[in-house]
Amino acid sequence: MSELKHVYISEISGYEGQDVILKGWLYGKRSSGKLHFLQVRDGTGIIQAVIFKGDVPEEVFEMADKISQESSIEVYGIVKEDKRSALGFEIGVKDIKVIGESHDYPITPKEHGVAFLMENRHLWLRSPRQLAIMKIRNEIVNSVRNYFNNNGFLLVDAPIFTPAACEGTTNLFEVKYFDENAYLTQSGQLYMEAAAMAFGKVYCFGPTFRAEKSKTRRHLTEFWMVEPEMAYFDLEMDMNLAEDFVEYVVQQVVKNRRQELEILERDISKLENIKKPFPRISYDEAIKILKESGKEIEWGEDFGGDEETVISEKFDRPVMIHRYPAECKAFYMKQDPESAKHALCVDMIAPEGFGEIIGGGQREDDFDVLLGKIKEHNLPEEAFDWYLDLRRYGSVPHAGFGLGIERTVGWICGLHHVRETIPFPRLMDRIRP
Ligand code: 4AD
Ligand code: MG
Repeated sequence: MSELKHVYISEISGYEGQDVILKGWLYGKRSSGKLHFLQVRDGTGIIQAVIFKGDVPEEVFEMADKISQESSIEVYGIVKEDKRSALGFEIGVKDIKVIGESHDYPITPKEHGVAFLMENRHLWLRSPRQLAIMKIRNEIVNSVRNYFNNNGFLLVDAPIFTPAACEGTTNLFEVKYFDENAYLTQSGQLYMEAAAMAFGKVYCFGPTFRAEKSKTRRHLTEFWMVEPEMAYFDLEMDMNLAEDFVEYVVQQVVKNRRQELEILERDISKLENIKKPFPRISYDEAIKILKESGKEIEWGEDFGGDEETVISEKFDRPVMIHRYPAECKAFYMKQDPESAKHALCVDMIAPEGFGEIIGGGQREDDFDVLLGKIKEHNLPEEAFDWYLDLRRYGSVPHAGFGLGIERTVGWICGLHHVRETIPFPRLMDRIRP
């Protein structure tokens, strides 16, 4: 078999009528008399391999009947058109070789509970549904990078070990750093502000960490965030960029991953509708909507998942809520010159109840106001001295935002819970496998 060409299932249409080798795993099998139908997967797709008793030596036909789920196999055969299958092709088998046996594979075609599947996440990833999600995640990550790389941004990597908090001190992961304590980064933003003063338009993209002590369907303790930061941008320009960017990412997925969206039974028309302009409402207007919907909320409180869901249901595309009360937002937010109680910030809430996907805004660029905020928030001044330098040496208006990749994958894929949006989710009660 070895002189034959190894072909991936995704490339099979280019080999009609030719003999090839597939290298993969047995996904499923059924037999009827003189025929075995093997479903073979190789990570790029699933194909049906048909073994006809008359085409192969007796021992190969018998051996094929005994191959069990998830055994790794090499399949040698001819590529044939098969209009009835989703793929459009099947393999007429001439020989099969078992590479590694698999017995009593725990994930069978019957329904399993989520807890069991999460315990077996390392195996669960082999399912077609998980493949579809990971392909969409990959498409989203690619589109994010393409967008910024094609729009004049410089990728600047932010550190993971940090000496101080960015997003408040309540959910920091503390780690020993030789003789000091350090924290896993909550956000690369502060470093991107330094980079924006050096390079203009920048972004970072990496893992971020939050010791979220609540179990919700939207919170991971480790998640990926992309964070653009732009010198000489105000809140308005920041929102324009955010909607242009999100439209691009969604439309790239619609264009390039339709098949995967269909596997997930996503309503694609809802995604096709994601075109700018996105609605923009102020926090004060959002409070009005919430009160009218019977929510008990007072001015000054931040929105949680419930409030986000109520607001998102009023719109058919992402909604940008701007100018929250300064008191419920981070220390670095620029104070609204029209109203000191408000901050020039924005959250983007995905439609259909998928929650906040973006947080960002204009940054405080005034030295004295920022120093006041650091004190007000009881943050250690010495840890932020370098950050204050950015206001000492040529401070300019600047803005940026952070988009959570997993929330975005959840929304685009239509997944109720973020646990399936990342290969190996880290949640408050889960650090294995
Ligand atoms: O709103 P957040 O906390 O904003 C920041 O961290 C800013 N420093 C970003 C910036 O302006 N450069 O987080 C941004 C986004 C949220 O909108 C959400 O999508 C995601 O990160 N996110 C989470 N995703 C999953 N699990 C969590 N625990 C998350 N916390 C935030
Ligand atoms: Mg936020």
